[in-house]
Amino acid sequence: MDVIEKQPVTLRVNGNVHELEIAPARTLLDVLRSELRLTGAKRSCNQGVCGACSVLRDGKPVRACISLAFAAEDSEITTIEGLADGNRLSRVQQAFVDAGAVQCGFCMPAMVIAATALLNENPNPGVEEIRHGLGGNICRCSGYVKVVDAILSLTEGSKS
Ligand code: FES
Ligand code: FES
Repeated sequence: MDVIEKQPVTLRVNGNVHELEIAPARTLLDVLRSELRLTGAKRSCNQGVCGACSVLRDGKPVRACISLAFAAEDSEITTIEGLADGNRLSRVQQAFVDAGAVQCGFCMPAMVIAATALLNENPNPGVEEIRHGLGGNICRCSGYVKVVDAILSLTEGSKS
């Protein structure tokens, strides 16, 4: 049986540099969860469909279950664990709490990641843009309405 040799890789995750030795075929999700113990990104479909494993790669959401860890070597990875400032939630996390957007919670780290990316790109999305921005994130609890409310609460439109 062939043994696949581990190779060195450097990953920058949530502002920390990690020097690892991993097999080249390992996914970013696997490495985040198993090696770095960052379990906020969830493994659900594990085939790029549900969005539960989303993390930010250089500010853009990617599906970590179908991303090779080695491909992230020159990128800055941000997981849900990296959004808060110490005990202070990010404004998106706080908005989700305030809106009561969380049901079972399984999909929520990825929803927050997707919402963060959306608002970074477009600070004042309308309802349709929010729905489109979350289109790749599936919630088995069907809790989309309050998620949209949470994001809308952060837009200029909510203050008028
Ligand atoms: S677990 Fe990655 S897209 Fe579903
Ligand atoms: S809150 Fe349960 S899967 Fe989305």
